[in-house]
Amino acid sequence: MTINPALEHNPSRTPSALVQPNPNPGPNPGPNPAPSPGPNPGPDPGLAAVGTAPSPLALLLLGRGADPTSERGVDCPGDLPPAADPDLAARAAAAKATLGERVFILGHHYQRDEVIAFADVTGDSFKLAQLAAARPEAEAIIFCGVHFMAESADILTGPHQKVILPDLAAGCSMADMATAEQVEQAWDDLADAGVEATTVPVSYMNSSAAIKAFTGRHDGTICTSSNARRALEWAFGARGGERVLFLPDQHLGRNTAIAELGMTEADCVVYDPRRPRGGLSQAQLRDAKMILWRGHCSVHGRFTRQSVDEVRARVPGVTVLVHPECRREVVTAADRVGSTEYIIAAVDAASPGSAFAIGTELNLVRRLSTRHPDKTIVFLDRTVCFCSTMNRIDMPHLVWALESLVRGETPNQITVDPDVATPARKALDQMLALP
Ligand code: 13P
Ligand code: SF4
Repeated sequence: MTINPALEHNPSRTPSALVQPNPNPGPNPGPNPAPSPGPNPGPDPGLAAVGTAPSPLALLLLGRGADPTSERGVDCPGDLPPAADPDLAARAAAAKATLGERVFILGHHYQRDEVIAFADVTGDSFKLAQLAAARPEAEAIIFCGVHFMAESADILTGPHQKVILPDLAAGCSMADMATAEQVEQAWDDLADAGVEATTVPVSYMNSSAAIKAFTGRHDGTICTSSNARRALEWAFGARGGERVLFLPDQHLGRNTAIAELGMTEADCVVYDPRRPRGGLSQAQLRDAKMILWRGHCSVHGRFTRQSVDEVRARVPGVTVLVHPECRREVVTAADRVGSTEYIIAAVDAASPGSAFAIGTELNLVRRLSTRHPDKTIVFLDRTVCFCSTMNRIDMPHLVWALESLVRGETPNQITVDPDVATPARKALDQMLALP
C-alpha cells in the first residue's frame, strides 16, 4: 500500500478546532476548507458578532483541565507506562488473563492494530452499540473507541457494568459541532416557523449523550452510517414526519437523502448554528425535507473529487470505496459507499488481484492492506490522515486501564446522568428497533 510517512492529522485537538461549530475544520483543513453548505442562502446579519464572540473553551489546552460539555478530554489521572516499554503487549495480555470474564474489550475499526489485537469484539458504531450489552457478566467494559461511543455503551449496559474509556481525550470533533444549547435553539427556530411538530430529529451516533437525549425527548431516532437510510425511511414513513432535522453530520444526511431516498439538493438546507435562525428563512425551514446541521468529520472532509480523479489515473481498474461521511462530490464520484463494516466486507469479498482506493480512516485502510496482500489497497488521499482522537487509545493507556482494574480501581469511567440517559436510551432503542 502506498502511504506517505505518518503525518498524524489532528482534527480535534487544537483549541480553535474544538470551539465548534467551525466549518473550517481545525488546523489542517487541507483541501476541504469548508463543508459544502448546499443551497443555503439567506441573510446573515449576526454572523460577525457571533463569529467573534470569545469562547469559554479557548484557553483550555490539550490535556489540561476538564470540559464536561465537550467531547474533548481531560488529564489522564494515572501514571502511564512508557510507550517504549517493550513489555506492553505482555502486560496487557497478563492483566486481561487475570481479569478473565470480568472485562470485555470493544474495539472500533479505526483503532490501532496493537489495540485491536486485544479487543474481544470489533465493529462499526452500530455493531458496537449492539454488542455493548452482549456480556452482562462483565463488570468492566473497556471501550477502545471515542467518547460518544463509550457514552452510548454506558447507556445501553446494565447498572452493574462500568464503561471505561482508556484515554478521556479520545473525543470526536464532529460530535463537538452540535451542543445541546445550539440544538435547543434550532428547535425553537423550528417552533417559530411553526414546523417543529412535523419535524423528526434523526441524530448520528457521533453526537453527545445530551443530543441523543434531545432526540429521544422529541421522539426521534439515532442512526449510524450503516442504518441511516432505514432511519430516514422510518422518520418519513411510520413516524409520519414531513421533514427531518439531521444532526450533526451534514454529509451523511445529504448523501443518504439524495442517494438512498431520491431527494434532490433543493430538498436539503443547511442549518448553521453560528447564524441567527441557522442562516435560514422561515420559508426555507418550512419547505425543506432535510434540515442538515452544519457539521462534518475533519478526517473524511479531506477527501476531494480531485483525490478520486487522481487515484483513477494512478491505479487502473481501481474501485473507489468511501465512507458516507465524505462530501457529496466524493461520494458521487466513488464506486461504492458504506460504513466501516461495509468497507471491510466489500474488500473481504473481492477476488484476488482487485484494486481499491479507500476513503476512510487510515488505521482501517492499512489493516485491510496488510490482511489482503493479494489485492492492491491504497488510501484515497495522497496525504495520510489518521483520526487522532481514535489514535489516543494506545498501548500505554490500554495497559494502564487493564492494570488499574486488576488493582481494583476503575479508571476513566464514563457515566451518563440518568436524566440524560433515559431519553437518550429511548432514541438508541428506536435505532435498534428500526425495521
Ligand atoms: P462507522 O459507524 O462506519 O464505524 O463510523 C464511525 C465513525 O466515526 C466514522 O467516522
Ligand atoms: Fe469523529 Fe469518526 Fe471523524 Fe474521528 S473519524 S473525527 S471519530 S467522525
